[in-house]
Amino acid sequence: SSDHELVRSVDLIREVPDFPEPGVLFRDIGPMLSDPAALRAITAALGRGLEFDVVAGVEARGFLLGAAVANQFGTGVIGLRKPGKLPVVADSISYELEYGRASLELPADTLRSGQRVLVVDDVLATGGTLDAACKLIAQAGAEVTAAAVVMELTALEGRSKVADTEIRALLKV
Ligand code: PRP
Repeated sequence: SSDHELVRSVDLIREVPDFPEPGVLFRDIGPMLSDPAALRAITAALGRGLEFDVVAGVEARGFLLGAAVANQFGTGVIGLRKPGKLPVVADSISYELEYGRASLELPADTLRSGQRVLVVDDVLATGGTLDAACKLIAQAGAEVTAAAVVMELTALEGRSKVADTEIRALLKV
């Protein structure tokens, strides 16, 4: 069944202790993405039942997942990028990280006003990244249908930061 396949898929996520720094347990989705049935199950679960015209994937792992979701549901994909990568920027947003600041940029001539957008990323941690992505999309006059992630680190309560957005998480840890 598709539920069984989803469970098997999530089991392919590898836990790496002490990365990127001591005390942090990193969850590596590489083995899951490289498995064809798992990639299909995960992308189906991220988009199922949601109404969207385009997918926005957040750099960097959100690019892989977002493109797969878009392809599976027959939409295009937009990459929300870290600064300095895009030749022509439509808009950018800067946000707080635990230490310092970060920003995301929307590429020019991609998102159209009124489009319904599914935001895709691998992880929801503090929620700063997803919140910024949603604001960037709203500033362009588009509408975020939902944000879909593979994993939510619930202890960080990032969900509360992404106000007024439906958040779908396939795995809560
Ligand atoms: C990670 C992850 C999310 C973000 C979540 O990206 O892929 O995009 O952090 O964190 P937050 O909820 O606290 O904002 P990272 O900054 O490691 O970038 P990368 O995907 O380019 O490695």
